[in-house]
Amino acid sequence: MKLKNIKREWWKEGIVYQIYPRSFQDSNGDGVGDLRGIINRLDYIESLGVDIVWLNPIYSSPNDDNGYDISDYRNIMAEFGTMQDFEELLAGMHQRGIKVVMDLVVNHSSDEHEWFQQSRSSRDNPYREYYHWWPAEKGTPPRRWSYFDPEANAWKYDEQTDAYYLHYFSAKQPDLNWENPKLRAEIYDMMNFWFMKGIDGFRMDVITFISKHDGYPEFPEEYQGQAMIDMYAKGPRLHEYLHEMHENVMQHYDCMTVAEGPGTHIDNVLELVAEDRKELNMNYHFDHQSIGVGDRFIINDDFQNLVKFKKVMSEWDAVFEDKGWGTVYFGNHDFPRMVTRWGNDSPQYRRFSSKLLSTYLLSMRGTPYYYMGDEIGMSNIKFDKIEDYQDLMTINWYNLTKQEGGDLEEFMASHKLCARDNARTPIQWDDTANAGFTSGKPWLKVNGNYPEINVDSQQSDPDSELNYFRALVRLRKNNLTLIYGQYSLLLADDPDIYAYTRTLDDDVILVLLNFSSNERTLALPELIDANFNNASVLLDNYANSEQTQQLGALRPYQAQIIKL
Ligand code: GLC
Ligand code: CA
Repeated sequence: MKLKNIKREWWKEGIVYQIYPRSFQDSNGDGVGDLRGIINRLDYIESLGVDIVWLNPIYSSPNDDNGYDISDYRNIMAEFGTMQDFEELLAGMHQRGIKVVMDLVVNHSSDEHEWFQQSRSSRDNPYREYYHWWPAEKGTPPRRWSYFDPEANAWKYDEQTDAYYLHYFSAKQPDLNWENPKLRAEIYDMMNFWFMKGIDGFRMDVITFISKHDGYPEFPEEYQGQAMIDMYAKGPRLHEYLHEMHENVMQHYDCMTVAEGPGTHIDNVLELVAEDRKELNMNYHFDHQSIGVGDRFIINDDFQNLVKFKKVMSEWDAVFEDKGWGTVYFGNHDFPRMVTRWGNDSPQYRRFSSKLLSTYLLSMRGTPYYYMGDEIGMSNIKFDKIEDYQDLMTINWYNLTKQEGGDLEEFMASHKLCARDNARTPIQWDDTANAGFTSGKPWLKVNGNYPEINVDSQQSDPDSELNYFRALVRLRKNNLTLIYGQYSLLLADDPDIYAYTRTLDDDVILVLLNFSSNERTLALPELIDANFNNASVLLDNYANSEQTQQLGALRPYQAQIIKL
């Protein structure tokens, strides 16, 4: 890889830090995080060194799905604050050199949105065609699978007009009808409204689902159930709409866009993100998240299969060899805590393995999306009782499993590892009541490990996960090789070790990651042809606590970044 051939962009060089506002910081004691809470923590965010903040939805919403059900796209959720708070937050970020990316949720709205209220009121209402309706006189509509419906049925019968409406998510999240040019114009207007306020980009929620198949045909048998996701992403006019969106909105700003891309795979992603398509900049996929995780998040033996993980990540890297640009992430508000998912959250290894995972994210090619709380090594809460869950997805799947007489014990055990609420517990700021998140009752329980794992205790500890993360951020930002360098995988079949080089012009960096609790000694000269006499360690997650040792002798969950 040659630097002179690379088109440099801020969104390729930046590190994204994701904030789930509901769980970041409560400022008024109602138990719910809010914008004022984020404003109060701006200096902390700046201290991380991150460049871009992605905020989960903060728009008006009845919160059936924690803000992913929007009732007014141009207003702030009352629980989160006001538009003035938002403007202050945006200015505070910009003053600190941090860009702000908002969530764009336009596959569906809330059923409480004015458009839907109008649409459902009569068949000839001007807003009727803003949503997808199937008149009941045509019989039962062809099957559509729903993520959040108690029966997994995406069609809901609505008496008022004797018709069914489509909802891929909950019945309170009716799908918007992108086939209608008026709807599309409304969305582009709304996006322009936010760009005019000064935001820097959008993360586009399930954007791959916006185009529906004409006439809602029955899908083939192999695409029934959860497998329907792949069909949802194959709507015939997806690319036409995204290109139109680019023309009407994105081309006018210096902005970044990233698709949440269910149904994107290595064979179709470039249609979305290749530069000449003029659609989106980036996409994030689910191929690594689904390793070892089946329907309804029931896990199997492959849950931490490193060989499969390396294969998926390497194939995804290769796609962007000449075109487009990738993303890397472990955690977000829809997945478990990274240290529980891919590391080892036992007291013995939690710190090392969470630093190891941060090392991976910040030394890969592709823009890193880093989830709040991972910088201090927060782990899954692992609820024992279904009553502790707030997430409608877990609750519905539990009820479905129960109705079917399925294995509830297996369900609860798997959800301790995979449920979304594991990542949504409040940030652990200090060791006072409720971890300093709220003076009231938190909307979701705080993880009981907060006395040991919290920001406050890590601030002054040079060896903390937090300070290691900051060091990694500095290293990446000062090192174009870590950003743009060619990635080459070594030891593809090793079940414990993830090793690779990053090469830019003559600069070579070797990354060694021991994803296991085994001690492993690697014969480096056999791995790679280089002069190890001049090698220097740029970062080592054991450096402060242990004697620096021989290169390539790796302790459990040890991570080394080595300059050759
Ligand atoms: C995305 C969001 C998720 C939400 C869903 C429906 O997957 O990340 O949290 O529930 O879309 O909007
Ligand atoms: Ca609050």
